Amino acid sequence: MPFNALTPELIVAFEAIVGPAHVLTAQRAEAAATAEMYADYGRDHTEDLHYAPDVVLRPANADEISQIMRLCHEHRVPVTPRGAGTGLSGGALPVHHGVVLSTERLNKIIQIDERNLQATVEPGVVNEAFQNAVKEVGLFYPPDPASKGSCFLGGNLAHSSGGPKAVKYGTTRDYVLNLQVVLPTGEIIWTAANTLKNSTGYNLTQLMVGSEGTLGIITQAVFRLLPYPQHNVLMLVPFRQEAQAAEAVSAVFRAGVIPSGMEFMERIAMEWSARYLGIPLTVPEDVRAHLLIELDGQDLDQLYKEAEQVYAVLDNYNVGEILLADTAAQKDELWRIRRNIGNAVKSAVYKEEDTVVPRAELGTLLAGVKEIGARYGFQSVCYGHVGDGNLHVNIIRGNLSDEMWNVGLREPISEIFRLCVKLGGTISGEHGIGLVQKGYIGIALAETNLNLMRGIKKVFDPHGILNPGKIF
Ligand code: LAC
Ligand code: ZN
Repeated sequence: MPFNALTPELIVAFEAIVGPAHVLTAQRAEAAATAEMYADYGRDHTEDLHYAPDVVLRPANADEISQIMRLCHEHRVPVTPRGAGTGLSGGALPVHHGVVLSTERLNKIIQIDERNLQATVEPGVVNEAFQNAVKEVGLFYPPDPASKGSCFLGGNLAHSSGGPKAVKYGTTRDYVLNLQVVLPTGEIIWTAANTLKNSTGYNLTQLMVGSEGTLGIITQAVFRLLPYPQHNVLMLVPFRQEAQAAEAVSAVFRAGVIPSGMEFMERIAMEWSARYLGIPLTVPEDVRAHLLIELDGQDLDQLYKEAEQVYAVLDNYNVGEILLADTAAQKDELWRIRRNIGNAVKSAVYKEEDTVVPRAELGTLLAGVKEIGARYGFQSVCYGHVGDGNLHVNIIRGNLSDEMWNVGLREPISEIFRLCVKLGGTISGEHGIGLVQKGYIGIALAETNLNLMRGIKKVFDPHGILNPGKIF
């Protein structure tokens, strides 16, 4: 074990940095009857995994984080950074115990710069709170993960999180201009400049985005923003064959329309979510899948023209009656059903795969997933951001034996990932590799690539103390 255990002296030093109220341990939590809350720092939204931290620290700013990192670097104590804990690949799990460093107190929107359409935030700001704050001044921050009501922007940066809007607007990485980062050695840097263009040296900003808290702890981010789109149109399209839904996706783009949402829900995905939410919903017998298609923009007439183009494309497929949501409440309800599929499958035991392929290969991927499931005897619930070629495959535990669940699924999951790669895709589109996918990374990346990544990690974190046990 390359790491050292925490000592009482280190706890005292941490107390001097963040204040005793923000140094949590199992014993103190027990005494304060907050053991459950403390235990939550050892889990995220990934399956039912739990690893106990030795101590949880809740620093207030970059300077305190810098002092913590200096100490942990010097004493070789592992540190696992943590946002809201909504991750689905186990990135926030303290697998080597040690320190869990929570960013929950770094929760300020520092500035919304309306002149430059930019905002500077701390990592503990909740995604939706940020979206709402910029919307109040007519601005738009598009990345909208399903967990937007609770996930932190810091976690979004760590994974380059996406969400439905990514199909038109891109993922978190497309909005970042500049980051303040505390390095594992304790130094504090800014990665770039607050400019829309930057051709000055290696792109440390984009290296940091998606690095899953293994290279540094983001303490401020400067995002670019857009004018808020004033109008949107939402339609729910029932298909009688999954393959046709997949085919229609790329046909819509080829017709010249870029939707602001293009989501796929196989029949059972929608049924599970509605049941989970207690919404009475009966999907007609002959419907196998739905596409949820959103268009947005500043000009309503233009949107209706685009909607007609989409209808013309859909005419070529065997679709049922299209529901055009005409009130905000109806739109919200459809999005609520879509966003809660993840929670619905979570209420059963499941493994989530975040497959992604070039858009037109989706039908082949979906058919492959179902064929592999039939061969190995598991049920899957599939849905996701098909406009991005991003299909969430949820493998349901059902009646699978412990042996099959813990070991036997490795082979079929590898088969699904090999299929993704064969189709020109990869093994995660937006959830990251973290802990649970790291055993599969060799399917997607060559050893040469992995060695380059290991080399980068070493430069940033010579003792390997920051979020150890993740990615590779
Ligand atoms: C979603 C999350 C799970 O798309 O990524 O619902
Ligand atoms: Zn998703």
